[in-house]
Amino acid sequence: MSNGYFVTCPPGLEFLTVEELSESAGAGRTEKLRGKVIFQTARGPGELSHLRSVFYLYAHVAAVEGVPLDAGGLEYLERLAEGLDWRPALQLWRQRFADAPQTPTFRVTARRGGEHEYKSQQVAAAVGAAVNRAFGWPVDLTGYDLEILAHLNGDALVLGVNLTPDGLHRRHRVVHGHADLKPPLAYALARLAEIRPGETVVDPMCGTAMISIEAASAWPAGYHIAGDLDAEELEAARTNIAAAAVDIDLRHWDARELPLASDSVDAIVCDMPFGRRIGSNRENRRLYPIVLAEMARVLKPGGRAVLLTQERRLMDRCLGRDLRWLRRDRHRVNVGGLLAGVYRLEMRK
Ligand SMILES: C[S@@+](CC[C@H](N)C(=O)[O-])C[C@H]1O[C@@H](n2cnc3c(N)ncnc32)[C@H](O)[C@@H]1O
Repeated sequence: MSNGYFVTCPPGLEFLTVEELSESAGAGRTEKLRGKVIFQTARGPGELSHLRSVFYLYAHVAAVEGVPLDAGGLEYLERLAEGLDWRPALQLWRQRFADAPQTPTFRVTARRGGEHEYKSQQVAAAVGAAVNRAFGWPVDLTGYDLEILAHLNGDALVLGVNLTPDGLHRRHRVVHGHADLKPPLAYALARLAEIRPGETVVDPMCGTAMISIEAASAWPAGYHIAGDLDAEELEAARTNIAAAAVDIDLRHWDARELPLASDSVDAIVCDMPFGRRIGSNRENRRLYPIVLAEMARVLKPGGRAVLLTQERRLMDRCLGRDLRWLRRDRHRVNVGGLLAGVYRLEMRK
């Protein structure tokens, strides 16, 4: 029997979640939406908690297009929710939470993207009214047993029942830094580097070491080195690495002058300063060319770099000037509401 799910994942890198689902969740058919992947698998919800590129796992109830954007949309949503077959999703929820009360309390969490003549709260109320009528469950906005997600993006609605109230992404972050990445995005960046056993993988500006921790957890047969200039960030990294119990060579260094031999590194994965919470655009104009040249020096011919930055114009300028870099692809990603680019690069042989 096939179960219907969807997951939320880093927007812009859904294809990596599709790969992970096919590889390690037995997913058959998958469908990508922005920041989500809908999929089917024979596996139960308890067998999906290992997914690394995922924020939340939901039992899929419906994905429909054509929701009116004007005030009529609310009545449309209420009727739609009332007419849906909720049983398969609720069965998965019962499977996941076997001790849940027979008559659970519930809430609807609504999210919206785009322009509508109604607010998210009204979407939640419309879907909630239908569920309340269909099942007789009482609403409890804070102490709920069951959470329904209604995500309306333009005229497209995705509806699901949350199977992971605590999220799958709250791992490895004992101490936060000034701009630490969420683990699913850190994992996705490391995954783009296609790390192979025995390879040396470096994050030269590691902050709290989220990327190296995810990389060392998923690819423990690599040699992982992480370094940063900021002693406070390094202290946070040290605590996070100890809590994650992974093997990482942590260094205090300046990425403009890496204490690494030329042609010695197989892959670099780095979340560069955006010039907002860390540094400034002016500082970046000086920093980026030097750091990129240093990365090019330490990478082996054919070595890979996966670099996340919001400084796309600066990055394009720097890469355009240095013919050693080969651009494989660039993905537009959303990092906490900021539009950034993930550059996948290779050193010419
Ligand atoms: C965007 S943050 C990285 C955040 C990290 N990915 C995390 O999850 O915590 C950029 C990092 O670059 C570091 N940095 C800036 N200039 C540096 C330099 N010259 N050498 C080494 N690290 C530097 C900052 O201290 C900061 O920790």
